[in-house]
Amino acid sequence: MFFKKKAEKMELDMERIPRHIGVIMDGNGRWASRRGLPRSAGHKRGADILENICDYCNSIGVKALTVYAFSTENWARPQGEIDALMELLYHYLQMVEEKFKGRNMRLKISGDISPLSEKIQAAIHHAEEVTASGCGMVLNIALNYGGRDEIVRAARKLCADVGSNPEKIAQIDEKLFTSYLDMADLPEVDLIIRPSGEKRLSNFMLWQAAYAEFWYSDICWPDFKEEDMQQAIYDYQNRDRRFGGVK
Ligand code: FPP
Repeated sequence: MFFKKKAEKMELDMERIPRHIGVIMDGNGRWASRRGLPRSAGHKRGADILENICDYCNSIGVKALTVYAFSTENWARPQGEIDALMELLYHYLQMVEEKFKGRNMRLKISGDISPLSEKIQAAIHHAEEVTASGCGMVLNIALNYGGRDEIVRAARKLCADVGSNPEKIAQIDEKLFTSYLDMADLPEVDLIIRPSGEKRLSNFMLWQAAYAEFWYSDICWPDFKEEDMQQAIYDYQNRDRRFGGVK
């Protein structure tokens, strides 16, 4: 029989920590249903788990952690679940100043926040403002976020700036386009993690994912631990990244 040796094999190379990690926090609903709990209990537990994962990532020098909290497609869920998620997010935003104290972290929200309630929008602006000087890890919460929507909104802003000026149109390149995206100020995403056994991107970081490494696991997000993140980073460090070139 083969046993997967874990801890002793997983020493991380601190020189090659991924700069930016994206996480699709999946499996909350299944985790709750298996325990006879409402789906919202899975989301609540998912938000709690996020704190440990943030601390771990911040402590090893990850520069940005992007988490998928609510997609542009999640509006199709039952209203009760949407309300519970929004309440959870609002509560989290209100606690951010206190939670981030001493952690030197910055909060950022990516996505189109305009359809969210005024109460949540105000809480977002406040949370971003009070953590703005944090120069440790950025926790980037993708909220009413969709990769396609991010690209469309960027295209609209870019079009408004260049108009029909042929010289400006000729200057459009990947670098310029990237600067119009929600996540323009974050480093390139190196690693995308999806727990719960699903193996798809679900409209997450479509532009940014071009050369990201993927890591999947059957563990549901509410059971995700620091050791799982460590395993994901360890596996990432053992990949051969060629970016389309040859070695
Ligand atoms: C996907 O799992 C998860 C979501 C749509 C919501 C994720 C949100 C949180 C973990 C809360 C985040 C809160 C903060 C404060 C950032 P699912 O519900 O689709 O799970 P399932 O596939 O098992 O049904």
